Amino acid sequence: MSQETCRRRQNSAGPRVNRARRMTLNGSPADLAATAAHDGPGKVTIVVCSSCRDETGSEAQPCAGYLLGLATREAAINSDIAVRQVECLGNCKRRLSAALLREGCWSYVFGDLSHDSGPDLVAGAALFAGASDGLIPWRGRPEALKRGLVARIPPHSALKDFA
Ligand code: FES
Repeated sequence: MSQETCRRRQNSAGPRVNRARRMTLNGSPADLAATAAHDGPGKVTIVVCSSCRDETGSEAQPCAGYLLGLATREAAINSDIAVRQVECLGNCKRRLSAALLREGCWSYVFGDLSHDSGPDLVAGAALFAGASDGLIPWRGRPEALKRGLVARIPPHSALKDFA
């Protein structure tokens, strides 16, 4: 059973359980507002899967993905990078996962991250934010974001019809 399947089952526990979990794990409303303030056109947002488990498959809470999200948020303090969470990026087999988004640019999905990959995600996001072509440069990209690249997804503006 994949973690994605697991998550669907966990979510079926009902909104009350999930709400209580979010209240415990997400920090204060002020924290969330401060994070959301970084989102906007031209800004890079790091989306960390907060439900990923580590290589042991441990179901201990908070799970490894959530801890990666906290570490990433910590690494992004004093930067212009937003850090948000989502429950499952559909990349469960590649363990700890995150995505980098920038409006109008390619989007990137990474896997095989570790609980201490937060600084690498922020370094990659900073490279992305400074890229004039809308692509994360390969040169200078942290190793974790070279090895862990799963996919890059084009913006609509980069799509072409078949001739
Ligand atoms: S649980 Fe599916 S990508 Fe993290």
